[in-house]
Amino acid sequence: MNKDLKKIQQDIQSRLREITDASALRNFEKKYLGKKGELADFSKNMKNLPLEDRRDIGKEIQEIRKEVESLLSKLRNKFSGDNSQENFFDVTLPGEKIASGHLHPLTLVQRDLERIFSSMGFMILEGPELESDFYNFEALNIPKTHPARDMQDTFYIEGTSDLVMRTHTSNVQVRAMEKYGAPLRAVALGRIFRNEATDASHEHTFHQIEGLMVDKKISLANLAAVLKEMFSGLYEQDVNIRMRPGYFPFVEPGLEVEMSCVFCSGKGCSVCKKTGWVEMLGAGLVHPNVLRAGNIDPDKYQGFAFGTGIERLAMLKYGINDIRLFNAGDLSFLKQF
Ligand code: FA5
Repeated sequence: MNKDLKKIQQDIQSRLREITDASALRNFEKKYLGKKGELADFSKNMKNLPLEDRRDIGKEIQEIRKEVESLLSKLRNKFSGDNSQENFFDVTLPGEKIASGHLHPLTLVQRDLERIFSSMGFMILEGPELESDFYNFEALNIPKTHPARDMQDTFYIEGTSDLVMRTHTSNVQVRAMEKYGAPLRAVALGRIFRNEATDASHEHTFHQIEGLMVDKKISLANLAAVLKEMFSGLYEQDVNIRMRPGYFPFVEPGLEVEMSCVFCSGKGCSVCKKTGWVEMLGAGLVHPNVLRAGNIDPDKYQGFAFGTGIERLAMLKYGINDIRLFNAGDLSFLKQF
């Protein structure tokens, strides 16, 4: 920008800030914008400038005028008491939509499960994430030297020999027995931790639901009925289940439970690897040693227990193919729920 013009622009900007009333405004207009004002004078003197500079400078003068005019019109309104333009509110315009939040898919499944189990008379419990070795392992019939400890590699807390990040929600089993005694019906939902490499179906931090029922004459038939109710409620269709032997030190007999595939109704598809069945959870009848650890007499009472991953339940419900999406914070994924 031309040096003299730059100086006028700076003068204008600093004088504009000093205008506090209508008379100062009028003086300002006269001094800078009037017919004999500084900008007009400058324009007149342009004829002394080289032809190639004139067009650029002319444009710059116009821009300065435009900018000053718009500021002045605001000041004029202010000093004339007419600020109706600024305060005008058009009540006929449509309102601005306020975006509302929504629940995470894991919360949705968690709430479904809580609803289903409440309807069957189960208490909803929580347990500590930082747990003693006793409740996570020892009370569940997994002594320190037992090879089953390798099934769930955990995070130990430095400086303590007794505290671990819980590796499953089964830590709530003996806590619940101690607190409520028998008979007992409870589910415990919550976050758990394992020292594991992650991939599309494994996380190191995930959620489980634990089920526990203790009463007289509890058998695998009770377990089957409750699991069928849980899966049918969650997947909103009638499902079948089947049981195979499985090993967990805290149940005897121990079971792996499968559910008829909810995508193909058991006919065979890519989700169930053409078998018609999907592996869903570990379960069994509570081991007598575990009942004893919870101060319940195994000669009078029996119980069943089961545990499964809430992420895996949600993946099957919503057709999600990568478990890592739950914690990725990716809005394009989360907004679908
Ligand atoms: C257990 O954790 C037992 N506590 C379950 C149990 C309870 C058995 C009561 C008997 C009686 P398991 O390690 O298999 O078992 O894990 C249970 C479920 O957690 C699995 O079926 C799966 O759904 C989920 N799961 C296990 N590891 C992972 C992982 N790394 N990432 C995501 N989900 C997992």
